[in-house]
Amino acid sequence: MDDIFILGAGAMAESFIKGVVAQQAVDPARIRVLNRTNRDRLVQLQEMYGVSPAGSLAEVRRASVVILSIKPYDVLAACKNMADYLSGQTLISFAAGISIAAIQSASGGKAQVVRTMPNVPVAVMAGAIALAAAPDVSAKRLDEAVHLLSQLGEVVVMEEAMIDAATAVSGSGPGFLSYLLEAMEQAAVELGFTPELARRLIIQTVIGTAHVLREWELSPAELRKRVTSPNGTTHAGLAVLAGRGVQQAIVDAMRQAAMRAEEMGLEYTRQE
Ligand SMILES: NC(=O)c1ccc[n+]([C@@H]2O[C@H](COP(=O)([O-])OP(=O)(O)OC[C@H]3O[C@@H](n4cnc5c(N)ncnc54)[C@H](OP(=O)(O)O)[C@@H]3O)[C@@H](O)[C@H]2O)c1
Repeated sequence: MDDIFILGAGAMAESFIKGVVAQQAVDPARIRVLNRTNRDRLVQLQEMYGVSPAGSLAEVRRASVVILSIKPYDVLAACKNMADYLSGQTLISFAAGISIAAIQSASGGKAQVVRTMPNVPVAVMAGAIALAAAPDVSAKRLDEAVHLLSQLGEVVVMEEAMIDAATAVSGSGPGFLSYLLEAMEQAAVELGFTPELARRLIIQTVIGTAHVLREWELSPAELRKRVTSPNGTTHAGLAVLAGRGVQQAIVDAMRQAAMRAEEMGLEYTRQE
């Protein structure tokens, strides 16, 4: 692989750099980063991770992988600006809502486009990353993209039509889970714990539950049944949740999030 060129130097770009450098998947000397105006930020990334600030967009020419880590509404203009420097590079987009076809068209069809939807835990290398590739992306390029992003968490390859659904599941998932945990924390404090102890118990409970689900290969329903003895404490609490229709509310919330992801994609496309 030649150089990696990253357009955008924000939170997501840093998560990517941190992940691939920490896991020694890429030599930081091969990573170039360019943003719009904030030169200090490029120097900061250079000092922290050993990557190099790029001089101009023309350096895209030397890269085999180009990463679009800019806001969705900036993506298509940026693709048009870099089209002259593209000649078959893998172009990986982190931008929500911008379709593969729109990126292909803006970049003059001169790149192999991979669209991803990472979630916030990529910042601590525990992300869930939905990934869809254009049909013309070669198996080798796809493997390379998956390998790079695997340094930030678990990559799930899917058809592009499923990316809006993934936005609702893994993209918004940390927000939904945090909403539930907020209520658990409030209840734990009302039951007498300090906020600090409540949080320690809750965070470890979430991490432990996730580990058990993965390692024992159980479905959430199976684990729920295992921990619910008749007339026990979990049984008493779950009866309240069922009575208030909490599961259905969560299903409705995720449907709404998926619809919103689709709508936002249409809004970004219309702006062009
Ligand atoms: N953060 C996450 O956890 C997360 C999760 C899922 C998806 N994403 C996606 O990742 C992308 C980046 O998000 P972010 O949170 O990293 O954004 P951010 O922190 O706001 O950073 C945006 C970066 O883009 C640069 N930029 C904007 N327009 C540019 C242009 N035309 N040319 C060069 N650089 C340009 C900005 O540079 P200046 O500061 O110099 O203006 C800034 O460095 C977004 O599309 C977002 O939807 C992020």
